[in-house]
Amino acid sequence: MKLLFTASEAYPLIKTGGLADVAGSLPEVLRQSGVDVRLLLPAYADLLDSIDTVPATVVEMDLAGQEVRILETRLPDTPLVTWLVDHPLLSGRPGNPYHDAQGIPWPDNAERFMLLSRAAAQISCGHSDLDWRPDVLHCNDWHTGPAIALAKMDERCPLTVFTIHNLAHMGLFDRDTFNRLQLPEQLWSDDALEFYDNCSFLKGGLVYADYITTVSPGYAEEICYAPGGMGLEGLLGARRDRLVGILNGIDAGTWNPATDAYIEQHYDAASLDAKALNKSALQQSLGLAERTDQPLLGFVGRLAEQKGLELMLPVLEQILELPAQLVFLGTGETDYEQGLQVLADTHPRAIAVVLAYNESLAHRIEAGADIFLMPSLFEPCGLNQLYSLRYGTLPLVRAVGGLADTVVDADAEAVANGTATGFVFRKPGPGDFLAAVQRACQHWRDRDGWRALQLTAMAQDFSWQQSAERYIELYRSAVN
Ligand code: ADP
Ligand code: GLC
Repeated sequence: MKLLFTASEAYPLIKTGGLADVAGSLPEVLRQSGVDVRLLLPAYADLLDSIDTVPATVVEMDLAGQEVRILETRLPDTPLVTWLVDHPLLSGRPGNPYHDAQGIPWPDNAERFMLLSRAAAQISCGHSDLDWRPDVLHCNDWHTGPAIALAKMDERCPLTVFTIHNLAHMGLFDRDTFNRLQLPEQLWSDDALEFYDNCSFLKGGLVYADYITTVSPGYAEEICYAPGGMGLEGLLGARRDRLVGILNGIDAGTWNPATDAYIEQHYDAASLDAKALNKSALQQSLGLAERTDQPLLGFVGRLAEQKGLELMLPVLEQILELPAQLVFLGTGETDYEQGLQVLADTHPRAIAVVLAYNESLAHRIEAGADIFLMPSLFEPCGLNQLYSLRYGTLPLVRAVGGLADTVVDADAEAVANGTATGFVFRKPGPGDFLAAVQRACQHWRDRDGWRALQLTAMAQDFSWQQSAERYIELYRSAVN
């Protein structure tokens, strides 16, 4: 089975969020299971800087009049063959793949990701000198949606799978942009890419893929109805028989407290007391008071509405009074960044705020915090709660999407029967969030009870194996 897996980011080459974690781990697990996988990514400038491999293959391709080169490398620390679409629109611009330093999307994103999509479609349909053609084209999120639409118009189209990591990002561009892209006019239709007078790249995947997957069973259900479907519930509901929820796995090598290279002190379920050293190291490095008698609550993520900032910000000072300490790591919307910074300036020994993208600190928060906050308004899967479970840092989540699928609330029954792994609340309001935090902090004070919850959390298996098999089954059923 030959598979072309394409995405706009993959860890460790280029990462802004969970998509990179998935695209940087699932293809390699599939390869280890016997699938002949090629990973296709844009050759961003920063990515080219980070790899020292000399490109082994250079293939020139003409994509609607634009010459691109396909460079070949390996995903670092793996034998996974990775192809990079090299064109000045992608490789000529350092920085974030999607936007400038102010968070404003690059004005030519439509052209940039259309190049990636055209390359994926051409390779998939055998129109390249690469001497390799897949049985399955697997695309991810809006950046690669048009690849499926374009491949479908070719008689040599392989089977196609499209994964939704986040329906909120639809890749919307206006009619003038659509014209500039020189796409077949038939794609400007409600049954194709058109979405309320715009062109949606995401719809390319949703309309044309043989199978649509999304990253948790819960989210697969939510998006077939309003408001979770964000206007696409009609289309998704109509394709329900082709829509599957497959839970994301985690890279159990990168996210393992027993071997994590970023953290102060290694630990596992048998040496859980050692986790405390990570807490004091974290407090010290962030200028927090080194208290062992208060829980430390952590957040890592994009500072976006999706992540529940509106639930948290109004009650953070009340959380400090419980008492508890807080650490936030993230970048995103200016209002949220400023709101957090003001609180950190007012309570420097109790709240630490780091407005940056920092891989090492993300690991140190997972290891050093007691409770991990993830009160998302919606969450297709979420990876941080899975990392938290593995690190014995109990997740506090809202009951949506992948969060509801992966965290078992510590209610009386689940505590009694030993299945509880965290704290789950329902209503999207600051009061409900605060009540859940109060409840979690009360549990934390019961040291033996807390230890039992941590051990159950750490025993959960969210490694890729099971989910990778489900993808392989899907590819097989599609190919057959
Ligand atoms: P999403 O993809 O919606 O952003 P996920 O929970 O699936 O959310 O994945 C987010 C990933 O990005 C995690 O690996 C998380 O650790 C990482 N991450 C997000 N923000 C930061 C940051 N500021 N610094 C370091 N890592 C971050
Ligand atoms: C998205 C989602 C997140 C998911 C990630 C990887 O960015 O917001 O919930 O875990 O993709 O699939």
